[in-house]
Amino acid sequence: MEPPDPLDELLTCRLDFARKTIEPCSIVIFGASGDLTARKLIPALYQLFIEKQLPSPFRIIGFARREKSDAEWRDELKAALQQFSRAKKVDAAQWEAFAASVNYCPGEFSDPKAYEKLAAQLAQPGHEGLRGNLLFYLSTSPSQFAEVAERLHAANLLRKGEKGKSWQRVVVEKPFGHDLASAQQLNSELTRFANEKQIYRIDHYLGKETVQNILMFRFSNAIFEQLWNRESVDHAQVTVSEKLGVGARGGYYEEAGALRDMVQNHLLQVLALVAMEPPVSLEAECIRDEKVKLLKSIRHLDPGQVGAAVVRAQYQAGQIDGQPRPAYRAEPKVRPDSNTETYVAGRFLIDNWRWSGVPFYLRTGKNLPLSASEVRVQFRPTPNVLFAAQCGPKLDANAITMRLQPNEGITLRFNGKIPGPSLQLRPVRMHFSYDSEFGAYTPEAYERLLLEALAGDATLFIRRDEVEAAWSIVDPIHEAWAGQPLTEREFYPAGSWGPKAADDLLAGRGHAWRNPQPVS
Ligand code: BG6
Repeated sequence: MEPPDPLDELLTCRLDFARKTIEPCSIVIFGASGDLTARKLIPALYQLFIEKQLPSPFRIIGFARREKSDAEWRDELKAALQQFSRAKKVDAAQWEAFAASVNYCPGEFSDPKAYEKLAAQLAQPGHEGLRGNLLFYLSTSPSQFAEVAERLHAANLLRKGEKGKSWQRVVVEKPFGHDLASAQQLNSELTRFANEKQIYRIDHYLGKETVQNILMFRFSNAIFEQLWNRESVDHAQVTVSEKLGVGARGGYYEEAGALRDMVQNHLLQVLALVAMEPPVSLEAECIRDEKVKLLKSIRHLDPGQVGAAVVRAQYQAGQIDGQPRPAYRAEPKVRPDSNTETYVAGRFLIDNWRWSGVPFYLRTGKNLPLSASEVRVQFRPTPNVLFAAQCGPKLDANAITMRLQPNEGITLRFNGKIPGPSLQLRPVRMHFSYDSEFGAYTPEAYERLLLEALAGDATLFIRRDEVEAAWSIVDPIHEAWAGQPLTEREFYPAGSWGPKAADDLLAGRGHAWRNPQPVS
């Protein structure tokens, strides 16, 4: 990496000086034996610890059904860390120092006595913050969220409102409900025991550096934002493709499907950031207000319109990188006649002044040729004179691609003359790459999200009305599919870019998917 230009250093603009400091606190993880704890939460907390970003003192308590001692849980976590930590090697002394603040509390989520035990552990002598500042991370099955909150409240561990100096917050993992009605019910239940300001609903896409950069890119650069509207943008594409199949998660996925697992949350969140109006300020509520406004402007489809605007499909057996992949219906815990979609592509319209008439195409799928998340904003073609008149559709229109992962960066595509005596044009690219500009840095979304929840900043979490607005967009789609068996057109071989119907969805308007390219 080249040394930074001293002028660039001078112009570095720091916006978070007023950031709250993180006070000593206890973090209680419900569902401590689960996959998320081992793969994401503990590695993220450990990384924050070695980077000295956790408060001093802090305490982590794992709460789960299985009986085990502190020592046994620590051993399990150490093994998981060796596999999942982004610190290449787990340093023995650092681990010992971290593990000294890690404890386990066995108990059933429904058993009041277990919460008394937890309360007793939290009340142990030590810094006042460890007893009063409590972050409850609900990594349980969603059906248990309300019960855990209620029991915590009954045990006087979760008080509604932040009274006095101490605070209690609840972090809730996705899925948040399975439709609008269940999300509303869950919201009402949770807000019986905690105020909305104490509830932090996770969408880990918002913890990704590149997703956060969407707003910075749009609103700190005048040249792009001027063009970010229906006058200049022809259409936009958001692609989240995954190379992995459903694998061992069949039980969960059968109930979710790609629409609820990915579109309702990650893809609509990315769309909201790409298309929202500038917020009044950088305050969490101002940003969230604009996201909600945008989500509410997305045109709802009647179930009768879904067929023309949204394509679903399921993967069949195929190959990726020469390796065979089983059909979805042959995956463990999947019904052999399952109609669950593993792929969704949709055309969404935003009914506001900025975007009226501009299609936003979203797609996501499992067992696609590569894992990549990208946003492509495709600008309108030049007038049909000069080069355009002669080249026809061969003259590519300008586009900006934001590569969210991997190969993180932004590319601007425009046309240039091929050097030489003949007059030939072809698209060329201007790249910004995180790696070459800032060096290799692969932050984990959960590190950022945990830090924000500990600091009490809700910007990167989903507000109640946001989650409900997102469900009201996807519910009619789901209703249209319910009880309708998949047709022959609604399958794709693993390793392909999805069904032909998804190409037809765009071709009808003269558009075509631009597939992410492999990292060179
Ligand atoms: C999760 C979904 O929310 O996001 C998974 O439940 C999906 O099905 C994952 O694989 C994708 O996240 P990422 O960060 O790997 O793009």
